[in-house]
Amino acid sequence: MKYHVIVFGCQMNISDSERVSAVLESVGYKNTSNINEADLIAVVMCSVRQSAVDRVFGLIEKFSALGGLSSGWKKPITILTGCILKKDKKLFINGFDYVLDIKNIKNLTKILGTKKTESVNNYLDIKPKYTSKFSANVPIMTGCNNFCSYCVVPYSREREISRPTKNIISEIKQLVTSGYKEIWLLGQNVNSYKNGKTNFPKLLKMVNNIPGDFWIRFTSSHPKDFNNDVIEAISTGNRITPYLNLPIQSGDNKVLQLMNRHYTVKDYKNKIIGLRKRIPDIALSTDIIVGFPGETKKQFENTAKLFRNIKYDAAYINKYSPRTGTVAAKLKDNISWDEKKRREKVLTDILKQTALKKNKTLLGKETIVLINESRGNNYFGKNKHYKTVRIKSKENILGKFVKVKITEVAPFTLRGKIFHE
Ligand code: 5AD
Ligand code: SF4
Repeated sequence: MKYHVIVFGCQMNISDSERVSAVLESVGYKNTSNINEADLIAVVMCSVRQSAVDRVFGLIEKFSALGGLSSGWKKPITILTGCILKKDKKLFINGFDYVLDIKNIKNLTKILGTKKTESVNNYLDIKPKYTSKFSANVPIMTGCNNFCSYCVVPYSREREISRPTKNIISEIKQLVTSGYKEIWLLGQNVNSYKNGKTNFPKLLKMVNNIPGDFWIRFTSSHPKDFNNDVIEAISTGNRITPYLNLPIQSGDNKVLQLMNRHYTVKDYKNKIIGLRKRIPDIALSTDIIVGFPGETKKQFENTAKLFRNIKYDAAYINKYSPRTGTVAAKLKDNISWDEKKRREKVLTDILKQTALKKNKTLLGKETIVLINESRGNNYFGKNKHYKTVRIKSKENILGKFVKVKITEVAPFTLRGKIFHE
């Protein structure tokens, strides 16, 4: 029996898919990358943007063409899970054999009629089937209590739940012992991690104290909860990489208020000033939504101004899409798609300039890269600052840390040569 998993969306969804795979393998399924030979197809969906939801509808059409007499295969079992809105479940139940909350993913064993369910209190404690042999996703919390007005996550993933610290630490210890080089601590808002007396800065310190040769990364952070204790933990933790994704969403106070973000542009900037004082070389990225309902050209200009001012290394720029059930969906989506595209391009152009200027200072410098992809003799990886570096090598360096000298730079990629001392 073979299964195939399709994942949409964020790193948390990739992590969820690793748990889906583990549950399926526990009942004897084997993974296949070829959808045509799968007896079971699991889709881990994302509801954050309409475009992601539309892709699931596209898949339903594709599924109906699979199997059947002409192919000689039986129609595969189809399962939908991941970030699903309650109200959408009814929509999808006609297109899938089973629609299952990710929190109940262990019930798959019951559904497939093969085994009694394992007793784990929290689905995050299911031992995952890691996709990579050197970089591991370790969820520390899931859900969100923030209710940003545009976002479906509090409705699809519901309230915040933190994983017990001891389970996180023991998982990471095992990973490091078996040679993992990069640990990603994941959560919708890692800063609100809380288990007994352990908050996020304490957890960071505990993970940093695990002996071994590995890097610690984390995502995502909410600016309102990003504080000096986290800055202190990053700056003193030798394994914590100097890279931070701090989503601002808009550079205009009125828009931020309508987004229900609970900080002002000034609060955000002050946090960045404090961070850069303590960690001058920190690389920064952000998330932005352009074309939020009612966003005037002047309000958008404030975001462009903030981009010029902060000088990000990277940014995830999203065009606003209304999500039914959210507070913002009641506001008129009055910015045209073309105008959203224009605003996106303005920010991308600023970003290209600021990122390139920063990257130019790296020419001729040394950096350590964890190689995560290979195409023939071309290898790709990320350095501590989460910059993509391309390297040529005859030796297989996949999954290794290599010391590299930067030889060429572009806004979002660097080229390097392996450095021999
Ligand atoms: N429209 C566009 N972008 C959105 N995001 C969340 N909800 C929406 C939406 N309705 C973006 C935010 C968030 C990222 C994960 O997705 O920028 O940080
Ligand atoms: Fe969505 Fe806001 Fe929660 Fe992030 S913090 S998941 S944007 S509601």
